[in-house]
Amino acid sequence: MAWERQINIKTPQEIVIMREAGRINAEALAAARAIIRPGVTTADLNAAAEEVLKKYGVYSPFKNYPGPYPYPASTCVSVNEELVHGIPSPKRKLKEGDIVTMDCGTVFEGFVGDSAFTAGVGEISATAQKLLEVTEKSLYEGIAQMRSGNHAGDVSAAIQRYVESHGLYLTREYTGHGVGRQMHEGPQLPNYGIAGRGLLLRPGVTIAIEPMVLVGTPVTRVMPDQWTVTSWDGSLTAHFEHSIAVTEGDPIILTAL
Ligand code: MF3
Ligand code: CO
Repeated sequence: MAWERQINIKTPQEIVIMREAGRINAEALAAARAIIRPGVTTADLNAAAEEVLKKYGVYSPFKNYPGPYPYPASTCVSVNEELVHGIPSPKRKLKEGDIVTMDCGTVFEGFVGDSAFTAGVGEISATAQKLLEVTEKSLYEGIAQMRSGNHAGDVSAAIQRYVESHGLYLTREYTGHGVGRQMHEGPQLPNYGIAGRGLLLRPGVTIAIEPMVLVGTPVTRVMPDQWTVTSWDGSLTAHFEHSIAVTEGDPIILTAL
């Protein structure tokens, strides 16, 4: 993955635009979430999100994301052991007990919103339920550290502490990232780290925080489609993401509804 290392501080006006990009992204994710049930395909979820983007005349930065195999869809839809970057397919039907991750991006007036959630399909196992709760809660543990004067390592360490204290694993192979005019800017934000280290957070820093959690191992592999990332051992995985702005006061969740 090509990474822009540049850390771009946003003006308050730019943060207002990013909040709108994020709100549209949240609406697209909500539309997909609303149709989750057994029998629906991962392509159906992608289409529900795309319909919202179309309504606003915006597009997803995922589509044709550059690389040796340009990403072919507007969203990533990843089921069970698929951690991230699942390619939506009309052949992949959800069934009762599955957990499904929807990850979507939006470009609005030149700025990106990037967020994701994992949800159950019908009744899910106790293990799956715990995985979802711990992963989502860890995202909010990280967000709480997004305060001026803290360091990026405080965010990473908070996520790591919370997830590992519940006996679950975090990938070392994928990270959160700065977000702005580019989907991927500096800094990279690993889901593990040392408090007090890394970038000094200050107003205008905007980062997509995205804990990616696995039940059985931190190790992943990439499927032959060159995109879908799964747990090495086939164990369940979850992923929650929000784009966040650091301010003089409380952090802003840019990708809230
Ligand atoms: N939310 C993901 C990320 O932050 C989605 C990228 S998928 C891609 O990296 F295909 F667009 F790369
Ligand atoms: Co992201």
